[in-house]
Amino acid sequence: MILAHPDMNKSIANKRIAEGVKSKLENIEVRDIFKLYPDYKIDIAAEQKALMNADNVIFQYPFWWYNMPAILKAWFDEVFNFNFAYGPEGDKLKGKNFLLSFTIGGPADAYTPIGYNHFRVEDLVKPMEQTAYLAQMNFQRPIFEHGMVFIPGVYNTQEAVEERADRHTQRIIYCIEALENLNPEEQIKEFVHEWFAHFDVLADDGYFNNFIANGAKLNFPEGEYEGHDGFSAWYAQIKQRIKPDCKHTIKTLSIAQDKDFYKVNVNVQMQAEKYNGEAVLANVLEEWKVEITRDGRIKIHKYLVKEI
Ligand SMILES: Cc1cc2nc3c(=O)[nH]c(=O)nc-3n(C[C@H](O)[C@H](O)[C@H](O)COP(=O)(O)O)c2cc1C
Repeated sequence: MILAHPDMNKSIANKRIAEGVKSKLENIEVRDIFKLYPDYKIDIAAEQKALMNADNVIFQYPFWWYNMPAILKAWFDEVFNFNFAYGPEGDKLKGKNFLLSFTIGGPADAYTPIGYNHFRVEDLVKPMEQTAYLAQMNFQRPIFEHGMVFIPGVYNTQEAVEERADRHTQRIIYCIEALENLNPEEQIKEFVHEWFAHFDVLADDGYFNNFIANGAKLNFPEGEYEGHDGFSAWYAQIKQRIKPDCKHTIKTLSIAQDKDFYKVNVNVQMQAEKYNGEAVLANVLEEWKVEITRDGRIKIHKYLVKEI
């Protein structure tokens, strides 16, 4: 983990995530680059050696001005150099996994075309995605959480930020476990956690439709739908009623192979608030029929949701 936070004494989120990941993952080396190089004089050879020793590289940082803190940019500028990360002999990072993991102060609904930050978070990290491609690394879907700043009396509570930091930590653990142990059950388990983390912030329907098969059968308490258009229609109604920043807790999760498919049974508890101020507390059983395609992608063919 390349940990980049220039003000660690004031950090709640990144400090907690770095400590959490360190305590839960064996064989992780956490390099706190601001502590190592407060004068920004980066030891390039030491950093390159650490990278060569790793299969998975996690970049952990707070989102500052829609980007990474300057110390991490300086680190990339110097460490990802010619004939190391790119160039005719620059294949030293080839095949390693590249995971961006960052904490965002603002809420999810600000990072949409009609929100006050205008752009999706995924769009704001495109330069890093291309950096990974140039270095022949495997760019992973970034892990980030919103609402990670605590301003006493103004925004958030410390407990809420800590809870989100713990959820973020858990997402990193699932991702790394899945990368290290890519059996289908692990891959699906990680995916289910990611899926509900995206429901927590009511992410764009494009994220969900990525994983829904053409013509998939979708059966929600609100009615029956089909395929991508069906999902988008159902989801649009939900988004009209429910505020982002809800909470899905996975109570039980089982995955069983059924011929060429996997049957996923999941019990989820959902806590949310409607725009009219009403609280929502729902306990649902979901049954999914999932395929892992030849190129390793997940496709949902059936998605049945029952309220209990
Ligand atoms: C210099 C600076 C710039 C920031 N820029 C942004 C920003 O562009 N967008 C945003 O949502 N939050 C922004 N924030 C809030 C941080 O993302 C938030 O404080 C951080 O994720 C909390 O992590 P920590 O507790 O580890 O410091 C900024 C904070 C600082 C100090």
